[in-house]
Amino acid sequence: MARQSRREFLERSMFAAAAAATGSQFIEPRAARAQSTSPNERLRVAVIGVNGRGQSHLFEAGGFTNRKDCEVVAICDADEQVGQTRGVAAVEKKTGKKPAYYQDLRKLLEDKSIDIVTIATPNHWHALAAIWAIQAGKDVYVEKPVSHNVSEGRRIVDAARKHGRICQTGTQCRSMAGTIAAIEYVQSGKIGDVKLARGLCYKSRGSIGARGVYDVPASVDYDVWCGPAPMHPLTRPKFHYDWHWQWDYGNGDLGNQGIHQMDIARWGLGVDDLGRGVVSYGGRFGYEDAGETANTQVSVFDYGDKTLVFEVRGLKTSPYKGAGVGVIFHGSNGYVVLASYDGGAAFDLAGNKVQDFKAGGDHYGNFVDAVRSRKPADLRADILQGHLSSALCHLGNISYRLGEPVPLADVRSHLEATRPAAEALETFERFSGHLAENHVDLEKHPIQFGARLALDGKAETFTGPLSDKANPMLSRDYRKGFVVPQAAEV
Ligand SMILES: NC(=O)c1ccc[n+]([C@@H]2O[C@H](COP(=O)([O-])OP(=O)(O)OC[C@H]3O[C@@H](n4cnc5c(N)ncnc54)[C@H](O)[C@@H]3O)[C@@H](O)[C@H]2O)c1
Repeated sequence: MARQSRREFLERSMFAAAAAATGSQFIEPRAARAQSTSPNERLRVAVIGVNGRGQSHLFEAGGFTNRKDCEVVAICDADEQVGQTRGVAAVEKKTGKKPAYYQDLRKLLEDKSIDIVTIATPNHWHALAAIWAIQAGKDVYVEKPVSHNVSEGRRIVDAARKHGRICQTGTQCRSMAGTIAAIEYVQSGKIGDVKLARGLCYKSRGSIGARGVYDVPASVDYDVWCGPAPMHPLTRPKFHYDWHWQWDYGNGDLGNQGIHQMDIARWGLGVDDLGRGVVSYGGRFGYEDAGETANTQVSVFDYGDKTLVFEVRGLKTSPYKGAGVGVIFHGSNGYVVLASYDGGAAFDLAGNKVQDFKAGGDHYGNFVDAVRSRKPADLRADILQGHLSSALCHLGNISYRLGEPVPLADVRSHLEATRPAAEALETFERFSGHLAENHVDLEKHPIQFGARLALDGKAETFTGPLSDKANPMLSRDYRKGFVVPQAAEV
């Protein structure tokens, strides 16, 4: 163990003062274990949430049991069955070493020997888990979307900066050499002026089953699982994963698959605030079930002379310009299509392919390198980028949720006020054609047309009409004991 350095001494004094001021239980930084920047010392990793994505954190190529530079020493899952089987037992089988198990992350975070915490819980927990971990002196890899609402994403950024922690967002495309090359190509002017980026999340999703009152699995600590969200009875048949489609916990496919493509679209456009305005429309079409989020949704983000259009389609559909889940950058001389996680291709205006972009990368490795260098600038997906792109998804959903059913005949006049109008109308024609192909009658099931909201994109607040309704939706009412700290308290 290295002797306490002057920097650590200063950090400890600062955090002790902060702890006294805020009453935070996790405020003492990485005091017990001076984190090594030596590549020879293995970093001690805890994974929180191991059912789905947490399996990738643990076991996929580059994941933490596959890294010579890391050791998975703890597993935390609110579902003991999942934590013990898919976490503890699976890690022991793979590595020969049994990690500790925690059902409650507050207990895990008391372990000062842990360097890194990775978070693959449902969305409503991301920000609080990340902030608590940062306050406890850990470096954090947090899944996308990094937040459940706009305000709490900004709080993670504040906390990471204040406590000098490394915080990576789980948008792994940012580390793919093919994606990086495609973005450089777009930004180099090779397809001319790029004023429009289109994100696509065409991903078929069926009904999640009838709304009802269901039993929470006995192995789940439901108080911990709900955390910052209200502790309502369970209303969906399948406990895990399907929370994505209920507003208390998830953000629909816009904030699920869509955040990856939203992030690439915003990155390529080169915009680094929340823009000037948003409007979003759609519905949950084709079935009635326990889900609440839109399964078909168009969101238009106004960046002045640039526009980002995002389309979610959860019913059966064909790709658009070769992309189902993807991003298209429309330039004055051509366009670039990213239709996979690791790259895409550039085309001229006639549709001839002029360049391929394909190659993988190691997002976890990029995070570990930054943990060693202690430089957030080394991160490919620093928390600030994760926050901004997650926030766009939340803005789209806020507009949509403030919307009202609009008769089909009136939709066009709503769209004509959306800039650029030609693009908005073209997208709507394809949107309504797609629903017609799926036998959705928009006269019987009208479109929910969202509020047209103006923004101060730097201040991350709504301005103008309806801001009194929209601004409270930038945050939420937190349950006692699970409150995301406000700016001054992070
Ligand atoms: N980067 C990617 O490509 C990618 C892919 C899939 C999922 N994800 C993200 O990963 C997250 C998890 O998704 P999933 O599909 O694994 O969901 P899931 O519901 O299958 O698994 C979440 C797990 O977290 C556990 N959990 C809930 N609250 C907890 C808490 N407070 N402490 C500890 N454990 C807790 C649950 O019990 C469950 O086992 C989501 O935010 C999702 O957006 C990212």
